[in-house]
Amino acid sequence: MTQDELKKASAEAALEYVESGMIVGVGTGSTANYFIDGLARIKGKLEGTVASSEASADRLRGHGIPVLDLNSAGDLQLYVDGADETTRHLHLIKGGGGALTREKIVAAASDKFVCIADDSKLVDVLGAFPLPIEVIPMARSYVARQIVKLGGQPVLREGFTTDNGNVILDVQNMKILDPVELETALDHITGVVTNGLFARRGADVFLMATSNGVEVLQA
Ligand code: A5P
Repeated sequence: MTQDELKKASAEAALEYVESGMIVGVGTGSTANYFIDGLARIKGKLEGTVASSEASADRLRGHGIPVLDLNSAGDLQLYVDGADETTRHLHLIKGGGGALTREKIVAAASDKFVCIADDSKLVDVLGAFPLPIEVIPMARSYVARQIVKLGGQPVLREGFTTDNGNVILDVQNMKILDPVELETALDHITGVVTNGLFARRGADVFLMATSNGVEVLQA
């Protein structure tokens, strides 16, 4: 199977978690796009969705699926999103698409986070994928210096502005042995909006697509 077929298989498996009358949190990226396309077939079941990016909101609306503001939706039962890396503890790196802040907010507001991805995303130790950090623009250099002190090599994502008007530093060469500790340390740097470690609130279920079928990993 191709990687796209695996992404689609994982996204299709997540449709099983959607129940009648739900407001579903929807993530961002190519795997989440397959989920959105699948949701279109069962949109009559949904009360609506909350999107983690403008791109996903546009795709949902393009299918005629209602997109609600999180402030009016309240807590969500289900959030479905991809990841850039995940461990067997369901600690994740996210934000390759730059949507990490809204993704973390929707994940925080959701009872169940179902992560969808192909098996290439499974790692023993997080950090081979550069860790995205959303930063207030005026704090960019200050934050970068603090990250160097933590042992990382921050690189500004050129020509990219987040949906929230901020910049992204992609941190290379981090071997993340304690994701919860690093997530907290990065959050404490003034000027950091969000970091792409989803460890304190990781996923609850990982639907890992392999060429032998979709494996269900639980936290
Ligand atoms: C978006 O900001 C990311 O968190 C995505 O969830 C992540 O990059 C996965 O994207 P793909 O499904 O395209 O691999």
